[in-house]
Amino acid sequence: MCGIIGYIGRGRSVDIVMEGLKSLEYRGYDSAGVAYFVDKRVEVKRCKGKIRDLARLLDASSNGSGVAIGHTRWATHGKPSEDNAHPHRSGPVVMVHNGIIENYMEIKSGLAKDGIKFSSDTDTEIICHLVEKYHKSAEIEDAVMSAIKEIKGSYAIAVISERSPGKIVCARKDSPLVIGVGDSEYFVASDVPAFLGYCRNVIFLENDEMAVLTNDGVEVRNYKGDQVFRDAETINWTPSMAEKGGFKHFMLKEIFEQPRAVTDTLRGRYYHGDSHVTLEEFGLDEERMSGFKRIYLVACGTSWHAAIIGKYFIEEMARIPVEVDIGSEFRYRDPLIGKDDLFVAITQSGETADTLAAQRQAKELGAYTLTICNVVGSSSSREADAVFYTHSGPEIGVASTKAFTTQIIALYLLAVAFGKIRGVLDVERVEKLLGDLIELPGKIESMFDLDEKIKDIARDYFKASDFLYLGRGALYPVALEGALKLKEISYIHAEGYPAGEMKHGPIALVDEALPVVFIVSKDALFEKMLSSINEIRSRDGKVIVLTDGNGDSFEGLSDYILNVPHINEFLGTVLMTIPLQLLAYHIAVLRGCDVDQPRNLAKSVTVE
Ligand code: AGP
Repeated sequence: MCGIIGYIGRGRSVDIVMEGLKSLEYRGYDSAGVAYFVDKRVEVKRCKGKIRDLARLLDASSNGSGVAIGHTRWATHGKPSEDNAHPHRSGPVVMVHNGIIENYMEIKSGLAKDGIKFSSDTDTEIICHLVEKYHKSAEIEDAVMSAIKEIKGSYAIAVISERSPGKIVCARKDSPLVIGVGDSEYFVASDVPAFLGYCRNVIFLENDEMAVLTNDGVEVRNYKGDQVFRDAETINWTPSMAEKGGFKHFMLKEIFEQPRAVTDTLRGRYYHGDSHVTLEEFGLDEERMSGFKRIYLVACGTSWHAAIIGKYFIEEMARIPVEVDIGSEFRYRDPLIGKDDLFVAITQSGETADTLAAQRQAKELGAYTLTICNVVGSSSSREADAVFYTHSGPEIGVASTKAFTTQIIALYLLAVAFGKIRGVLDVERVEKLLGDLIELPGKIESMFDLDEKIKDIARDYFKASDFLYLGRGALYPVALEGALKLKEISYIHAEGYPAGEMKHGPIALVDEALPVVFIVSKDALFEKMLSSINEIRSRDGKVIVLTDGNGDSFEGLSDYILNVPHINEFLGTVLMTIPLQLLAYHIAVLRGCDVDQPRNLAKSVTVE
C-alpha cells in the first residue's frame, strides 16, 4: 500500500513530511515525492527509488513552507518511475493517493475527449485532473467532493491547491486516513507512525468522509455535506507497534489484512450479474485463451501450494489439462512445453530465481507467459507476456499469508474465465461462482472469531516435535501450506499429506505425541475422512479437525473441532487456510521464535 503524509502548521512542513515518509518506509515502496508551498506556488519533488534519493532533490526553498504533502508509492497501475510517482499535478491542484480506482479508464477517456493530456500511467492522475476541472468554478474542497463522487474504487487522498495555500483537503473510501490534531499544527496520514513522533491525538476518518485542515483546525464532513463532530483519540502505541498497526508482528497484521487484500485483488476484475471476468487488462483476450492446449503452473514454496490448488480449479471448471511444477524442477526437466501452451508463474515477489528461470525457459520454448505477482515492476512482471497483479499490498512477514490467499483468488478468476470461454461453465454456474466471491471477505473476517480457540490449541501442542496435516482434493495443498507455515516460523517438523496416503507410510508416525490436523470438507469424501480420523484416534493420535461440514460428526473423535463456514469447494481453500496461519503464528509466539524474520529464511529467494 502507498503511504501518505500531510502537514499544516509551522514552517518546517517539509522536514516533518520527510520524517513521516521515513516512518512509512516499512510499508514497502518503489518511489516517493513531496509537494510544498514556496510563496504561493507549489513545488513538487519526486523520484523513483528511496526517501534518501528524494532528500537529495530538496533545497533551501523548502524550509519556509507551512504546508506540505508527501507520498511513498507501492505501484499498482504503472511501473515505478518518476512520472508515475506522486504527488501528481493538474494546473494549481497537487495531490497524493493511496488505493485503486476501478473506473479510471472510463474517466480517463472522458478527460482525454476534453483535451486533457496525461503524463503518467497511474489511476491517480485522473483524480487530479477531475479535481482541477471542478476547481475552475469551485473551492478546492467542493471540487474534491465533486470529483470523488465520480470515481469507483478505494482511495485515500490529500489535496492542496495554489489557489488555496493554507489548506489540505483529504477524503477516504476503503483506504485508511488518520488525522493528527496537534497544538496549532495538523497532520493527515495513511497510518499513525507517520506523525507519532509529533502527535498522539488522532481522528480516524471513516469511509465517505472528508476533512479540511487549515491553520485554524480540522473540519470533518460526510459526503452529504453534514459536519461530523468526533473527539480525538489518544494513541499509546510505541512507534514499532504503530508500524504493525497495533499488532505484535507484521505476520499477524497481514493475516488480519486478508479481507481487504482479497477485496482489493477482486476490485474491477469481475462483474457479477454480467457473468464476466475481466482479464483483457492482463493481456489475456478470449481468442488467445481459447487456443491454449495445456496450462503450466510453476512456482516455489507457498506459491507452489497455490499452483496445486489452481490445478484443481482449472481442471474442474475448464477441463483443460494443467501441469504443476516446482520452479527448480521445471527448469531442469526439459519440459514438453511449446507455443500452444500457457505458462503461469505464481510469485509474490516476482524475483524468485527458480520461478524466473522457469518463466524465461518457457518463453524461449514458445509458450505464452502469464505471471500472478504481487510486486509491480518486478522481474517476473516485466518479462511476462501478461500480468495479473494481486493487490495484497506489501507483504513484510517472511511467511506468506495474504499473498497466498490472493494468489488463490487470481487462479479462481482465471479458472472461471477459462471455464466460460471453453463453454464448460454456463451462465448460471458462472454467476454462482462469482456470487460466492462477494461473500468471501466477510467469511474470512468471521474466521478470526476462532482465534481464541486456536490459541488454546497452540497452548496444548506448542511443545510437540512433529505435526501431520491431512487433506484431500484441493484441501491437500492446504494441508501442505499449513505444514509449511508451522515449520518455517516455529521450527517444528511438520508434514502435509494427502489423507488417502496416510496408510502408505505416515500412519507409522502416529502415537499420543503426534498432533494430526484434518482439513475436512462437506463433500463426497467426508466419510473417508471420518474413517481416517478413526484410524488416528484408535492409535492415540491427537486429532484437530478443521471442517466446513457437520462438526458434530467428530464429537468424541477429536480433541478440537474448528467449524469453518461453507462457501464452495474452491473458495473453501481460502477459508480453511486462515486457521492454519493463526495456529502456526500462535505456536511460534509460544516458542519464542522470530515470527517475522524466521532463522535461515529470506522473503525472496533470488538465488538458486
Ligand atoms: C512462504 O511462506 C515462504 N516465504 C516461501 O516458501 C515463498 O512462498 C517462496 O520463496 C516463493 O516466493 P515467491 O512467491 O515470492 O516467488
